[in-house]
Amino acid sequence: MCGIVGAVSERDVQGILLEGLRRLEYRGYDSAGMAVINGGPHAQRARELGKVSALAEAVEANPLNGHLGIAHTRWATHGEPSQLNAHPHMSGDGLAIVHNGIIENYQELRDELKADGFEFTSQTDTEVVAHLIQKNYREQGSLYDAVKSAIPRLRGAYALAVVHADEPDHLVVCREGSPLVIGVGIGENFIASDQLALLPVTDRFMFLEEGDIADIRKDRIEIHDREGTPVERETNRFEHGADSAEKGEYRHFMLKEIYEQPKVIKATMEGRVTDSRVLEQALGTEAANLLDNVRHVQIIACGTSYHAGMVARYWIEELAGVPCSVEVASEFRYRKHVIQPDTLFLCISQSGETADTLAALRQAKKAGFRAALAICNVPGSSLVRESDLVIMTQAGPEIGVASTKAFTTQLTALLIFTLALARHNGLSAEREADIVSALHQVPGQVSDILALNGGIEEMSRAFMDKFHSLFLGRGSQFPVAMEGALKLKEISYIHAEAYPAGELKHGPLALVDSEMPVVTVAPNNDLVEKLKSNLEEVRARGGELFVFADKSAGVKAEEGVHVMQLPPVHEITAPIVYTVPLQLLSYHVAVLKGTDVDQPRNLAKSVTVE
Ligand code: F6R
Repeated sequence: MCGIVGAVSERDVQGILLEGLRRLEYRGYDSAGMAVINGGPHAQRARELGKVSALAEAVEANPLNGHLGIAHTRWATHGEPSQLNAHPHMSGDGLAIVHNGIIENYQELRDELKADGFEFTSQTDTEVVAHLIQKNYREQGSLYDAVKSAIPRLRGAYALAVVHADEPDHLVVCREGSPLVIGVGIGENFIASDQLALLPVTDRFMFLEEGDIADIRKDRIEIHDREGTPVERETNRFEHGADSAEKGEYRHFMLKEIYEQPKVIKATMEGRVTDSRVLEQALGTEAANLLDNVRHVQIIACGTSYHAGMVARYWIEELAGVPCSVEVASEFRYRKHVIQPDTLFLCISQSGETADTLAALRQAKKAGFRAALAICNVPGSSLVRESDLVIMTQAGPEIGVASTKAFTTQLTALLIFTLALARHNGLSAEREADIVSALHQVPGQVSDILALNGGIEEMSRAFMDKFHSLFLGRGSQFPVAMEGALKLKEISYIHAEAYPAGELKHGPLALVDSEMPVVTVAPNNDLVEKLKSNLEEVRARGGELFVFADKSAGVKAEEGVHVMQLPPVHEITAPIVYTVPLQLLSYHVAVLKGTDVDQPRNLAKSVTVE
């Protein structure tokens, strides 16, 4: 959600902090701020409502010089977006703090600190932590000790970075429930909520574990775990190249990420499939034993990742014959479950830091599931570290808030997993070879769809003045329709609902008129004839149809029926391929409407709070 960056260096840190914030802006963008220590008695601070560019203008006019600093880009939880609620928060003139997460017991702490004479200038939970640490500092005289003794008083999820003007050579950070990474430099060190923020200054990263507290100096990093034991955390190199977080020639990250799909789908297959079969050893040394014993799969995820899980359910039941349930994490974690014996718990998450997904995983680990498998895009994330088995998607950094390449690589990884599971459950070598061969064709088919971009852009004009839309699909294309509707609503702000096409006459048909565009995905499978009847139902009510159909499916363009003919695709891999035109459609509608495509209102990329 919020983005945090910090630096301690020989050089001025303002530029490093600003560039870090620009790269973190996808995490939150309602206000931004920074505090810099320059050896004087006060921390210098700048905060601005709005985007990082507003802060950049402010500090260009009035620079904050110094070798130690912290900065923040906010996604409001407690208190409206405003300059007063923007981070860093301060206590006195010297202590400054940035925070990602939520302090649940902030009201109780606030009352206590008010009674101690602290004055509050914001509505945030973060300012409470600033005063709590300041109170400890006055008693203990050491910033590290002050943070350490504040931690047991905090309930909730947080990543914190704290500096004090009286201790101008270090920052203290800690995490519990929100991500924090240390960037290791030469004669300088950094912290951030995401390694992408620090790629211009380092490619070496240490991921803090839950409960860790770290003292970061320019030439030394000391980490203690929850028990107070000194610990070493492994240093990893960032593998994707520093420019993977740049827009390059593209107007938006979302468009760049849509166009990267042929490459990253291929990368997700690499080393995991031969020409004709899945290499299950590539799923981990434990995979064979596990797959032999799985009798049920429980998939948990949120948003787009949940839609990937819904597609996987069709595959797992059809190819492996193993029962599969899919649920959104925020529902799963708050209800009682009947757990079938030998159930594999499968979490899907791009970021690996989604609070609800992690909470569900932590519950599941206590609840008697056979094992926890993660499909994730961020190495070193909490989900990856806490799961028994991991299949990494190879999407590379996804910056656009609307998920695109993460989804299609999740589907690729899920299909590979399904085939491995299916082989243990009687899938024939011929059928496996047929599907693996279809999977190898997907990158090329996605490129063919990208070549239709101009036509899809043309189609998108019809949505410009619409307020509502309906997305229809059948079978494994129903989750594709759901994903299409989610994309459209989140970036164009047009209300979009997805329905299984067969449900149309059970209610939503009442909504259909000429003002309600109806988008449909129609690969040529055994449901296409039924789907065509559903389309007739829409036409008969004056609804305008936008159909993405297999060339051979026989869906004809006519008045009120716009058809985009797609190349033939294997019915198992069709959900991956058919997602792409819907991504492009949403993208173009949003561009035409002039919305902020990469940072849509009210949203943030990584939902690390409940
Ligand atoms: C939609 C979108 C969100 C995420 C959801 C889960 O475009 O990006 O719906 O899919 O917040 O995030 P992860 O996959 O990081 O757990």
